[in-house]
Amino acid sequence: MVPVVKASHDFRRACQEARVDGPLALVPTMGYLHDGHASLIRAARNLAPTVAVTIFVNPTQFGPNEDLSRYPRDLESDLRRCESAGASFVFAPDSPVEIYPAGFQTYVEPGPLAAPLCGARRPGHFRGVATVVSKLFALSRADVALFGEKDYQQLLVIRRMAADLDLGTEVIGRPIVRERDGLALSSRNAYLSPEDRPRATALWKAILAVRERFHAGERDPAALEGLARQGLERAGLVVDYAELRDPIELQPVSRPDPTTRLFLAAFLGKTRLIDNAALGE
Ligand code: PAJ
Repeated sequence: MVPVVKASHDFRRACQEARVDGPLALVPTMGYLHDGHASLIRAARNLAPTVAVTIFVNPTQFGPNEDLSRYPRDLESDLRRCESAGASFVFAPDSPVEIYPAGFQTYVEPGPLAAPLCGARRPGHFRGVATVVSKLFALSRADVALFGEKDYQQLLVIRRMAADLDLGTEVIGRPIVRERDGLALSSRNAYLSPEDRPRATALWKAILAVRERFHAGERDPAALEGLARQGLERAGLVVDYAELRDPIELQPVSRPDPTTRLFLAAFLGKTRLIDNAALGE
């Protein structure tokens, strides 16, 4: 089975030793791994001889009313997935104290990229993400780190952070892995009841409907956003946001083009689902 380290100092040492053999690739996760995570590990294998996967449910990125305590966990199954996708070793701290020891008080505060969308709806979320990822970059000194476009805003925030702070890790984005019916794979899909599961495809259907309207010539952002919102609401979801933004700065657009992305977040019961895609894909 793939080797597991539990202590930060052991993770640092394992990474240090691995870097002697060539580049090191890092895949940070919160566990409950699925094929989306596995696709990042497999892509990492093509970039570096050593692939380190981290599994840590990071408390600082959860809001007070979010799902930290019930976030799904299954380390045994995660390790099997890491092994079969080709991970070299796994860092899976047993306790948040390993990452946030007593006296911890220094955080990384991202800038305007973290302001809209999930940043507006989940205050402090990207501060927690940027802080934990900067620590993982510092411990590993990885040459490359892979992140999914499923969390597109997160990808941009982390890439910006790594550049701004000269962390020396190149941040690589990878496409969203979906179920056959279009639902983006997510650890949180485990929360969906069998009755809710079919309705979760509403996000992907909304993306397809907006793309179709865009290809038919619609260029009014409010009309396209309204179409997405309507699709989600008709399926019984509660919309958190449905917004068109440019793919670089995440600013609103006055006239969408094929690179413009539609960003969706919606609640299905208590479960918050997100998705995004370029209009021209
Ligand atoms: P987590 O939600 O476990 O996701 C880990 C990585 O897997 C992220 O880069 C995410 O974008 C990617 N991912 C998730 N679902 C995917 C899918 N369907 N297709 C492709 N990639 C997918 O994101 C986090 O954890 C945390 O915020 C973390 C970065 C680890 C910091 O705590």
